[in-house]
Amino acid sequence: MKLDIAVLSGDGIGPEVTDQAIKVLKAIAQEFDHSFRFKPALVGAIAIDETGNPLPDTTLDICKHSDAVLFGAIGDPKYDNDPSAKVRPEQGLLKLRKELGLFANIRPVKAYDSLVGASPLKDEKIKGTDISIYRELTGGIYFGDKYLSDDGNTASDLCLYTREEIERIAHLAFKAAQTRNKKLTLVDKANVLESSRLWRKVVTELSASYPDVTLDFLFVDNAAMQMILNPKQFDVILTENMFGDIISDEASVIGGSIGLLASASVGKKHAMFEPIHGSYPQAKGKNIANPVASILSAAMLLDHFGLNDEAEMIRNAVEKSIQLEIMTPDLNRKYNNITTSKVGDFVEDFINNPKDSNINFTNIHLGQSTII
Ligand code: IPM
Ligand code: MG
Repeated sequence: MKLDIAVLSGDGIGPEVTDQAIKVLKAIAQEFDHSFRFKPALVGAIAIDETGNPLPDTTLDICKHSDAVLFGAIGDPKYDNDPSAKVRPEQGLLKLRKELGLFANIRPVKAYDSLVGASPLKDEKIKGTDISIYRELTGGIYFGDKYLSDDGNTASDLCLYTREEIERIAHLAFKAAQTRNKKLTLVDKANVLESSRLWRKVVTELSASYPDVTLDFLFVDNAAMQMILNPKQFDVILTENMFGDIISDEASVIGGSIGLLASASVGKKHAMFEPIHGSYPQAKGKNIANPVASILSAAMLLDHFGLNDEAEMIRNAVEKSIQLEIMTPDLNRKYNNITTSKVGDFVEDFINNPKDSNINFTNIHLGQSTII
């Protein structure tokens, strides 16, 4: 298969982790005889520095003319600490989501058996957790009208949803539940918000078309608690933009590190793949950030194009790296010398030599002798 992939590596650790995903995609292309072309483009703080615009027109154009977008991370502390900044890196990502019509953001959350000890939550609570979060991505409070009074003392953000916006993502979430454990939980705040009551009404109506899926509802405050108390009760979670943002960061605690969580953002025409983590500016350039979220986002990209064996191979390689403790410092209790690029090298190596022994991999990637 031929794919043109726009690469928007962005700020902070974005370039370092995205490089590993590209390395891995190149290995897949070689093993499976595909042709992937990568087109870099600017986004975020680095784009503001170079062009004054967090999403330059050329970047948007490259994305619109590519088959998929691989996204790194955006954000820079110099904007976070300045509430009066008119231009912000995040505007680049939000505009990109809107312009590409990426209305559904899919965030899988999984507890790897060999990592349950890395989570602050109790092993028996999280072992076996496997959740797919469907977060609405182009509506709600993120995109509603914003207002700031002239005196600067009153502000508001409108949370607006239409039936159509709810229906299109709800269909995807129901269909996902059908291929999984057939349970869909709508997370909302219908006891307070009119927009949440519309979500409940529309999703309940649609459920008639998916009789094999059990639908239930949770208020978002309760859902936040349940996510920690008993995450195994969840299969597919469907929720609006802001609640999905918050609950997916919370869910990342289950996996042991936010550096593991990948995501796919899809629309009718376009698709983008990005880690859920931010730009982690403190780690920039240090080669210590966990590249797994970016590598697994590349696997989701392959799944999107029906390249499931290829995606599975990446996931197997990542699981192997975790088993052998070829992991970055956020997760590694044993070795302190495993860098971002080392993890990428390991996954690449596994793809190129899937039959090689564990001992060989461990020795090579821990920098030890290969002669044993
Ligand atoms: C995410 C991020 C973004 C969001 C930020 C960077 C705008 O937190 O993708 O979860 O809030 O959607
Ligand atoms: Mg977020």
